[in-house]
Amino acid sequence: MNRPVLEGLPLNTPAYVKHDRLVAWVGDIAALTEAADVYWCDGSDAEYQRLTAQLVAAGTLQKLNAARRPGSFLARSDPGDVARVEDRTFICSERQEDAGPTNHWMAPAEMRALLQSGDEALFRGAMRGRTMYVVPFSMGPLGSPIAHIGIELTDSPYVAVSMRVMTRMGRPVYDVLGEGGDFVPCVHTVGAPLVAGQKDVPWPCNPTKYIVHYPETREIWSYGSGYGGNALLGKKCLALRIASTMGRAQGWLAEHMLILGVTDPEGRKYHIAAAFPSACGKTNFSMLVPPAGYPGWKVTTIGDDIAWIKPGQDGRLYAINPEAGYFGVAPGTNEHTNPNCMASLTENVIFTNVALTDDGDVWWEGMTDELPAHLIDWQGRDWTPALAREQGEGGKLRPAAHPNARFTVASTNNPVLDPEWDNPAGVAIDAFVFGGRRSTTVPLVTEARNWTEGVYMAATMGSETTAAAAGQQGVVRRDPFAMLPFCGYNMAEHFQHWLDLGERLQAQGAPLPRIYCVNWFRKGADGKFVWPGYGENMRVLEWMLGRLQGRADGAENVFGVSPRYEDLRWDGLAFTREQYASVIGIDKAAWQQELVLHAEHFARLAHKLPAELPAAMKRIEAALAA
Ligand code: OXD
Ligand code: MN
Repeated sequence: MNRPVLEGLPLNTPAYVKHDRLVAWVGDIAALTEAADVYWCDGSDAEYQRLTAQLVAAGTLQKLNAARRPGSFLARSDPGDVARVEDRTFICSERQEDAGPTNHWMAPAEMRALLQSGDEALFRGAMRGRTMYVVPFSMGPLGSPIAHIGIELTDSPYVAVSMRVMTRMGRPVYDVLGEGGDFVPCVHTVGAPLVAGQKDVPWPCNPTKYIVHYPETREIWSYGSGYGGNALLGKKCLALRIASTMGRAQGWLAEHMLILGVTDPEGRKYHIAAAFPSACGKTNFSMLVPPAGYPGWKVTTIGDDIAWIKPGQDGRLYAINPEAGYFGVAPGTNEHTNPNCMASLTENVIFTNVALTDDGDVWWEGMTDELPAHLIDWQGRDWTPALAREQGEGGKLRPAAHPNARFTVASTNNPVLDPEWDNPAGVAIDAFVFGGRRSTTVPLVTEARNWTEGVYMAATMGSETTAAAAGQQGVVRRDPFAMLPFCGYNMAEHFQHWLDLGERLQAQGAPLPRIYCVNWFRKGADGKFVWPGYGENMRVLEWMLGRLQGRADGAENVFGVSPRYEDLRWDGLAFTREQYASVIGIDKAAWQQELVLHAEHFARLAHKLPAELPAAMKRIEAALAA
């Protein structure tokens, strides 16, 4: 098995790897990329220490003050490599219609020529002068019937150490894989080969970027970026884009959802899966601290970003979090918005693109009310409030942390980690929540009256764009199921998949999860958010649980059922009827306009759009006209 790849380059295959097809593939990729060396990650602590020390020596990581932030590091990316690149993300199905109108598509043969097989193929020689790391990982508890294995080949040691935090990474994966088990091959290069003697830069990358998925052959190829979802291929690429196509073929769901447990004072526990677009507070919601007035209530985290959900024998839906860590947005996180997250970040964290304080700790916008007197910003420049004021745009201070600055931290750091988070069987889902970021129109919370109405809510979700992806910010875009950048196949068929699943479960007779649409983000005439959000979202959760138990009331509107003022509990919060009216109300004219946009959205997704959805729209239209 120890085939030499290039003359003098052994593959260094460890004896415990017994999978010939995998070893042959590693050899092929090492040959294609002309990697200088091959290193098989075992996932051990010693290896993590060694690789992080190597990254410190290379200048990619900086060790933070061990007294203030033990075991933690800061990375600064190249300023051109700071977010997912959706416009460079491709779904290369054989037929364009299978990728659908919301994905970028290229024919697989054409893409393969560009990346792998053509004379000028980008991966040819792309790892010259670099080590290729073989990173084995399990998405989901090792050996769980819901889990899947991936192997990432990468020339970025930053990716290798991040994958250890974010996934179950290391040697035990090969025990599950055995001699012939299935895995998703993931090939990643930063696209910055080194010629002999060339000095490396701290964050190698390439201005040309390709994030490529072949859904039929279940492969991932990523070129040119070392950042987040572009490079940690278990996350968005495998756990969402490839897994969504697997789920559709096999009758399960891969969704952009957090999973939380909520326990009431009587000890009754429910599980909720909630989809929000990127950077809309999913991590905050998954770690919510119930406010004063909620003694005995507990919220626990199973996952903060992705859920894999499979029907069980009993007809209920069981969810796991395929990840083992959080890659969360740092700016805006503080002791008020997410105290549990702050507690998770006290040690053993890799921060990327946050600011550095003079005492070797980290800072980001929103962490404290008071601005530090001096920082080193995410690009390594001096930052003071005065300089930031001078250099800011539109009356705003120049940020010290990049708006998409991130923390990478193991789930086990979370003080409210749910005891079931690692259960291979998953947790039974009681309700789905879909939430967009809308400053107008969409009410605080609405319950769907049936599964189809819930699928309609999810299919028509809209959101104002954020910094998690490169591009224009603050524009409303339809983000169905919060899956717009993550669905590996035709979005309209995703709607059909949900409708079909609902029908199948209903036929089994188990209670279907209820579906809710929420919007924490309505603004008043002063341009400020009206709803206090964060821990106060507990009030909405309590209403949902009350509905599940058949004891909470609400009033029907054109969209579904929403709580009246008196249906929520207000202990400990001064929130007036007028304020409530402004976050729950349905404005007829705004909804008529909204439906025009829904119709445009459906027109764009017309190919294979389930007829149930335009029919549901017509019902809302008729109700509005009544
Ligand atoms: C994320 C995202 O990083 O959605 O979770 O962009
Ligand atoms: Mn996400």
